[in-house]
Amino acid sequence: MGKDVIIACDFASAQQTFEFLDKFTDRKPFVKIGMELFYAEGPQIVRDIKARGHKIFLDLKLHDIPNTVKKSMAVLRNLDVDMTNLHAAGTGRMMSAAIEGLTREDGSRPLLIAVTQLTSTDQQIMEQDLLIEKPIDEVVMHYAKTAKASGLDGVVCSPLEAGKVHDACGKEFLTVTPGVRFADGEVGDQKRVMTPEQAKQIGSDYIVVGRPITAALNPVAAYERCVKEFCD
Ligand code: C5P
Repeated sequence: MGKDVIIACDFASAQQTFEFLDKFTDRKPFVKIGMELFYAEGPQIVRDIKARGHKIFLDLKLHDIPNTVKKSMAVLRNLDVDMTNLHAAGTGRMMSAAIEGLTREDGSRPLLIAVTQLTSTDQQIMEQDLLIEKPIDEVVMHYAKTAKASGLDGVVCSPLEAGKVHDACGKEFLTVTPGVRFADGEVGDQKRVMTPEQAKQIGSDYIVVGRPITAALNPVAAYERCVKEFCD
C-alpha cells in the first residue's frame, strides 16, 4: 500500500481539469479533488475523473456531529473514491462514525485520512483562537493517535512530521504529505517544504503535489520527475 504521487487538481472548473488531465496519455495519475472543484462541479466531476481511470483522493475535510458525518460518508462511499478525509478535531466519536458510514456492505471502504492541525495554524493562533496551550507537535501527535484508535488509516501532515507520526502510530499508519517542492523550484506560499526525494527518505507514504506539476511548463515531465524521485 502507498508510495504514490497525488496531483492536487486545484482547478476552478471541469474544463480546466480535463484539459490538464488530457496531457497524461501514458499514465493515469492519482488525483486530489478539493472543495473548490467539488463545489463548482458537484459529484459528477468525481464520476467523470474516475471513468477516465484515475484513482481519487476526495479532499472535503468533513467536520460535524457524528451522525451527520456518518450519513455524509455513506453518500461519499457510493462515489467510489479511493481516499477521503475529515478533521481529527471532530473527535474520536466523529471519526468512528465516519468509518461506519464509509464502510460498504461487502466490508470494503476508501482509505480515511485525518487532518490534524492545518499548517495555516501555528502555536500562537492555536493558543489565542482555540485556547489550546499544549505544544503544537504534541497536539498533532495526539490527534494522530486518536485517529488511529478510531480506526482511521492515516493522517495528512507536513513531510517534516511524517517520521514522528510513524514513530508514534506505527509504520503501517499512512502519512499523506503536501508541501513538496523540487530542489530547483519555486516555494511559493508553502512555509515548510521538502523535495520528493527527502519526503521518500523520511517515510511519507503519499505526497500531494499541486503547483510544481500543475503550473509547470511540462506537467507530464514534472509528474514523472516526482514519481522518479519519490517512488523509485
Ligand atoms: O500547489 P501545492 O503543491 O502547494 O498544493 C498542495 C495541496 O495540498 C493544496 O491542494 C493544498 O490545499 C493542500 N494542503 C496543503 N497543506 C495542508 C493541507 C493541504 O498544502 N496542510
